[in-house]
Order: sequence, then structure tokens, then C-alpha cells
Amino acid sequence: MYLLVNPQMYNHQESNLKKTILVVDDTPDNLRLLSTMLTEQGYKVRQALNGQIALTTVQKVAPDLILLDINMPQMNGYEICQQLKGDAQTKEIPVIFISALDDVLDKVKAFRMGGADYITKPFQAEEVIARIENQLSIQMLSQQLKEQNTQLQQSETREREKANQLELALAELKRTQFQLIQAEKMSSLGQMVAGVAHEINNPVSFIAGNLTCARQYFQDLVRLIQIYQENCLHSIPEIQDMVEEIELEFIMEDWEKLMSSMEVGVERICQIVQSLQIFSKQNGTQRKPVDIHELIDNTLLILQHRLRKEKDSDGIKVIKNYTQLPKITAYPSQLNQVFMNLFNNAIDALENQPCPRLITIRTEVISELFGLDNEVEQPRKTHNLKSQIQNLSYVIIRIIDNGCGMDEDVQNKIFDPFFTTKPVGKGTGLGLSISYQIVVDKHGGQMKCNSAMGQGTEFVIELPFEPH
Ligand SMILES: Nc1ncnc2c1ncn2[C@@H]1O[C@H](COP(=O)(O)OP(=O)(O)OP(=O)(O)O)[C@@H](O)[C@H]1O
Ligand SMILES: [Mg+2]
Repeated sequence: MYLLVNPQMYNHQESNLKKTILVVDDTPDNLRLLSTMLTEQGYKVRQALNGQIALTTVQKVAPDLILLDINMPQMNGYEICQQLKGDAQTKEIPVIFISALDDVLDKVKAFRMGGADYITKPFQAEEVIARIENQLSIQMLSQQLKEQNTQLQQSETREREKANQLELALAELKRTQFQLIQAEKMSSLGQMVAGVAHEINNPVSFIAGNLTCARQYFQDLVRLIQIYQENCLHSIPEIQDMVEEIELEFIMEDWEKLMSSMEVGVERICQIVQSLQIFSKQNGTQRKPVDIHELIDNTLLILQHRLRKEKDSDGIKVIKNYTQLPKITAYPSQLNQVFMNLFNNAIDALENQPCPRLITIRTEVISELFGLDNEVEQPRKTHNLKSQIQNLSYVIIRIIDNGCGMDEDVQNKIFDPFFTTKPVGKGTGLGLSISYQIVVDKHGGQMKCNSAMGQGTEFVIELPFEPH
């Protein structure tokens, strides 16, 4: 609004009241003349007879305007003006040059040096006053404009900050929501797994328990048959026929193997049930010491159906390169979620890929060692467990697949919520963003991805722990 105000509309007499004007002139008569004239107009006037005095005065208290003579010994008006304009504190003070020289070149120089206006001697009092008032009005208006700009900028910054905060809050809310959804999914999976494990457990226990009796009974029966054979078997042709028909000798031999294979089978089912039970028990929200390998193995077990051979494909081979790991304090249910997401992604990436289709899991412990004087940081060293004694240690888990891989564009977005390249209904795009949050925010770790299109992908998880 202020911009539209015509400077002439101001009541100069009033608005310029108490404004200070510094008059710089080496001729005392001129100084006196100008001072009287300006004082009559209501200005406060300060005087300087040369450049040096003028600069010192300006430094002490800045005037609102300077009337500056050009032709002075030692330091001329241009030099004084140049110095004033070169100083951040004084560069805004309007300078009006006064000189007897009525030469175009001098005027140009005056403006180039930063002068606001130019008055030639002999001057008329009205002209001087009018030019001074004009400059003061311009000065005042530009001051107001600057203040308004600053205010505008400040309020814009505040608004932007508010918008940023809202955006952050929204993102946080969204993330919490995703996490709740995923946690709920995992908890339902855990419940289902626990239910299945429980249901299988009972009948398997019957079989396991009865197998021992069955073996005993059979051994007794075999002994009985042998006694029969030794005593009266040959005399009864019907029995002899039956013995040949059922291949009694083969049965007696094979039965033993059959029993052993059933026992191995039952043993395997018992292990699976145990793993399922461990998996489902991990659904607590407590931090506790966890065995990373156990978590990985149990997650792989749940995903067996996706790894096995299918009619038209050869299955996925899982290679485990485990080193000895300490138990680390963590949220096991959340880490299960991370492994589940990573393996599912790797299996998806291996779909329709040529054989061999591999998922490699590598684990190791890394310690961050510091120099004894704590000044020189030594490079990270891979350690075996026994020699690792220092402060910061990490368990590193690498999950590597030789699947389709990703280009750089996709790699830059994989941790964004809802980013997916999978068809609608197959992927929600939440798996990695949640996994990232679990590893980084909940466990203070790191999660990185290396991938090359057509070659495969490696996910690296670093989980810090405190060595004992
Ligand atoms: N091992 C991998 N190989 C190739 N691409 C991968 C791999 N892991 C993730 N990606 C890419 O990253 C994207 C995001 O993965 P993310 O797990 O977050 O979501 P998603 O698997 O698509 O869906 P969901 O939420 O069901 O897990 C995937 O759509 C895929 O393009
Ligand atoms: Mg996924």
C-alpha cells in the first residue's frame, strides 16, 4: 500500500522534523548559509569542514542525509561518498552532491559513486529543500518497504515451517499406521502359526510315542515267526505259499528301514513344530537377547513352500554362511518382520530367473576399534568373537539374491512407503520402508542395499550391540 503513496503527499515539514542532515563543505560561508536554511526548515544540522571530519561524524552518529561538496582539498566529495557506500553501516544514507561544476561527466561520476542527487551552485534555497525532502521521503518509503518485506519473509518462513511440521506429522502418522498394519499382520501370522503348531503337535506326539512300541511289537512278532519257521513251518503248504506271496524275507528286512525312515520323518516334524512355536512366541513387544540365526532359520522355515521345487521350476537354494554370533538385545518379533520382508522380496526377484536361483545369507561381527588414546580412529576390523573386546560392535547380516536386480532409479525409492514395482494386489510397497524403520529407528542400526540390474541384490543390515 505504501508503495502507491506519492512522496509529495507527505507533509515534509512535519515528517522531516528532527531529521539530521550533515553538511560537508570546506567553505565556512557555504556551511553557514546551508545550516541556517535547513535549521529554519526544522532540520537538525551537523557540519563538517573536510572529508575526515565528515567520516568520523558519520561513524559516531549516522545522519539521515548528507549534503556533500565535491571540490574539497585532501579528500574530495567522490572519495568520501565512495567510502560511505563501501561501509555496510553508512551505505544507506542518501548523499546529495553540491558543486559549482555543471559538467555532465561529473554528474555521471557522482551517481556512479552512489550519490542520490546533484545540486549545482549557485543554488536556490527552495530547490535544495525540495531535493532534500524528496530524498528523505524516498529514504523513508524504502525503509518501510524493507521492513514490510522482512515481515513478509518472516511470516512466509513461519508458514513454511508450519507446513513442514504438518507434513512431518502426517508422514509420522502414516508410518505409524503402516507399522500397526504390519505388526497386526505379523501377529495374526504368529497366532496362526501357533495354532497350527499346537494342532500338529498332538497327533505327531502319538505317532512318535507309538513308533517305539510298534518297533518293539514287530521285533517280537518277527521272533515269533522265526520260532514257527524253525519248528513247523515247512509241513504246512498254505503257510509256505503265503510266505512266498508276501515275500516274508523282504518284509522282515525292509521293515527295519521303514521304521527308521518313519522315525526320521517324525523327528523332522517335531523340529518343525518346535521352530513354529519359537516363531510364534517372538510376537512380544519386549526387547530380549535374541539369536539372529534362530530368527533367520525360523523365518526360512515359514517360507519353505516358496523355496521348494515346483513343477516347472527347480526351487531356490539357500546358502547359509554363518559365523558365530553373540546374542544381541533386540525386538525379535520386529526382526522376524524384517527377515520375512527381505526373503519375500528376494524370492519375488528370483521368480522366472534361470537356474541356479540362490539366496545367500552371510553373518559376521564387526567391531569399531578406537586407538588407545582415543584420538586416532582405526579402520573397522572384522573380528572373531573371542578377540572382540572393544566398545562399538555390530552384527552384520547380508541377504543376497541373484535375482532380477534393480536399476538406480528404483534403488533410490525402495525405502519410500508405498513404492512398489509389483502388480496391483501383489505388493503394497511397505515391506522395505517398515523394515528400514525397524532396523534404523528401533534398533539404532543401518540398512543398505547394493544392486545391479540383471545381476542381483544385496541387503546389508547392521545391528549394534554392546559386547560383554
Ligand atoms: N531383492 C530385490 N530384488 C529386486 N528388487 C527388489 C528387491 N527387494 C525389493 N525390491 C524392489 O523394491 C520394491 C519395494 O519393496 P517393498 O518390499 O518395500 O515392497 P513390495 O515388495 O513391492 O511390497 P510389500 O509391501 O508387499 O513387501 C519392490 O517392489 C521391488 O521393486
Ligand atoms: Mg516386499
